[in-house]
Amino acid sequence: MTDPARPGPARPGPAGEVTDRAAAGFLHRYGEPPAGRWAAPGRANLIGEHTDYNDGFVLPFTLPLRTVVAAAPQDGGRWTVWSELSDSPVEFGVAEVTAPGRVTGWGAYVAGVVWALRDAGHHVPGARLAIASDVPVGSGLSSSAALEGAVLAALVDLGGVDLPAERRPRLAQRAENAYVGVPTGIMDQSAVIRCRPGHALFLDCRTESVEHIPFDLAAAGLAVLVIDSRAPHRHAGGEYASRRTSCEQAAELLGVAALRDVPAAGLDEALARLDDDETRRRVRHVVTEDQRVLDTVELLRAGRIRDIGPLLTASHASMRDDFEITVPEIDTAVEAALSAGAYGARMTGGGFGGCVLALIDADRADAVTAAITTAYAARNFPTPTPTFHRLP
Ligand code: GLA
Repeated sequence: MTDPARPGPARPGPAGEVTDRAAAGFLHRYGEPPAGRWAAPGRANLIGEHTDYNDGFVLPFTLPLRTVVAAAPQDGGRWTVWSELSDSPVEFGVAEVTAPGRVTGWGAYVAGVVWALRDAGHHVPGARLAIASDVPVGSGLSSSAALEGAVLAALVDLGGVDLPAERRPRLAQRAENAYVGVPTGIMDQSAVIRCRPGHALFLDCRTESVEHIPFDLAAAGLAVLVIDSRAPHRHAGGEYASRRTSCEQAAELLGVAALRDVPAAGLDEALARLDDDETRRRVRHVVTEDQRVLDTVELLRAGRIRDIGPLLTASHASMRDDFEITVPEIDTAVEAALSAGAYGARMTGGGFGGCVLALIDADRADAVTAAITTAYAARNFPTPTPTFHRLP
């Protein structure tokens, strides 16, 4: 690892700083400079997985990786979108944003935001956009939410729309759920729009109230290592939706609006009312995970960052054994990080691949990375890629 503050060499990306690339791309593509640039970061989730769509609690933080949109208005109710990650631009007009699903592929995230804004009654000007990004796609660091957040910020500003930050995540989520067709919760869009640097975002996904929890790792001599497991996503879309359905069915069986309404103290009683072992384990994950978020927040408020380690590791075990969303590469990385001295480690994100995060002493980053790489090699897994190990 050369410079730990920089995004690692995970995927060879285009050269140059991301904001410059977006502006240069705009100039190159459209022959004039953009009216402005808007950015949204990638995120990792410290703890609270698959709790968001159960109306529960999450604790994400943003990463020093960004998606930047350079944009300018364009006449005639048309949108032209160029991305450095694609050979061909996407173009659409009003007809494609009168109903969901008419633009597909990566352009759907952009069209979905236009559709969601218009559907909420906002004026959206036609626009030309150029997108550049450091957020790796398919690594579970919310490249989709970063794209939605940056496009939303651009269109809201260009259109002079009065849309406060706290109302933007629902709109971006609607773009993803209804237009793109992915049934995600509210965490990622909230994280990329509402997180503050140096803080984790304690979000109540039912009320959408937030508290910015100081998360000053550097002051404590700590770091979070985020490692891309490089596990291929295995049926991730279908598995995510099926977990969500089981949770909703369990809530109905238990007579509550959402699993968030099952208190940790009432867990055993709730489990005794469920016949199916798999459903019981799904419920146990969500209810215990909500409690782990609350416990983590308490420890962080008390400045006891190291002490959250066991909660992170317990969260991983719960995702592995009860929610069943981890894969061998991910479990290997977590075990290796722990044996190399991490205070705690867990998969972060929706599961079936993606990234692992480990809470470590800042000076142990190379040793922990090496331990994971060695454990991977022993199992013939592809070399995992460190994304970074220092927070902004
Ligand atoms: C994905 C979804 C989120 C959330 C996580 C799991 O990232 O987009 O809404 O459900 O998975 O915690």
